[in-house]
Amino acid sequence: MRTVTCAAPVNIAVIKYWGKRDERLILPVNDSISFTLSLDEMYSKTTVSISPTFTEDKFWLNGKEESLENPRIQNCLKEIRRRASKRKLEGSDEDVLNWHVHICSANNFPTAAGLASSAAGYACLVYALGQVYGVEGDLSSIARQGSGSACRSVHGGLVRWYKGEMEDGTDSFARPIAPANHFPNLRVIICVANDGRKKTGSTEGMRRTVQTSRLMQYRIRESVGLRIDSMMQAIKEKNWSAFCDLTIADSNEMHAVCQDSFPPCIYMSDTSHAVASLVHQYNEIQISKGNLNNKVCYTFDAGPNACLFVPGAVANEMLSLLLRTFPPSSPPNADNFIRGMKPQTLS
Ligand code: PMV
Repeated sequence: MRTVTCAAPVNIAVIKYWGKRDERLILPVNDSISFTLSLDEMYSKTTVSISPTFTEDKFWLNGKEESLENPRIQNCLKEIRRRASKRKLEGSDEDVLNWHVHICSANNFPTAAGLASSAAGYACLVYALGQVYGVEGDLSSIARQGSGSACRSVHGGLVRWYKGEMEDGTDSFARPIAPANHFPNLRVIICVANDGRKKTGSTEGMRRTVQTSRLMQYRIRESVGLRIDSMMQAIKEKNWSAFCDLTIADSNEMHAVCQDSFPPCIYMSDTSHAVASLVHQYNEIQISKGNLNNKVCYTFDAGPNACLFVPGAVANEMLSLLLRTFPPSSPPNADNFIRGMKPQTLS
């Protein structure tokens, strides 16, 4: 029997992946850039065991047995076994490929609530499978086939997912572009406005946007590529102010194309907009004082929860501002739950 347990943190996109050009292989319409958070707070933990005594493959998610028929898990499993069998042909491993697998996975934060649970989950699953079957090399393109954004959680720090040009997806993978401390002493605050499952999953939301939104065509052809270039430049120059402006602009564009789809996909709530407007007010004060390095930025995934990137120097101030503006009820619940954390290097 072989058993491996590992943990993978969530990643938060600052230039969003939104829209697929190939749904089966999960190939995106644009490059994206993200920050992988630390393992201190929001992470997935997965244990993978293989044994000659297991009689079937089995899967548990958050303590509940689930079907392994899920095509995305199957894609990851198939690809790992395919790569492992290649190694075996090279004569490097014992015969484990016919053993059944048991997978036990759990998130320590709400699943499918627009908090990047699938990114952490699939990155963790693929990494654990890779370890158990002795598969080496790039795992990001396998994690991508579980959930697109998962390919970025395989690496730590700032990560870019290259959309690639090939039809078979072999050049669609993630690579680290800068370490987690690139912007020193950075803090991340996650404001959970609602931790329920989202109404429109990202797969359906992306499909609808690509099929019906004209604004999405503008994003693909004219906007997001230039923003990727500007973000790479901002990162290279450590230009925090530009990083903030680009992050905010890309989140707003993603939610604009969602709203422009038919019927519209609405992910942000009144609370989300109130958090965004608080950040803009705060930034105006910092700009008027000439403190561009104290700017804060927000980004929203396919849900109402805000992710704020906050310089350490103003993190306490921002946190108390948030707590005063959105006072926690007593006892704290998911509607007022704010988590602070910092990005970390993983790989
Ligand atoms: O990987 P998915 O299918 O969960 O899509 C995630 C999409 C966003 O989180 C909204 C954006 C991103 O780049 O992570």
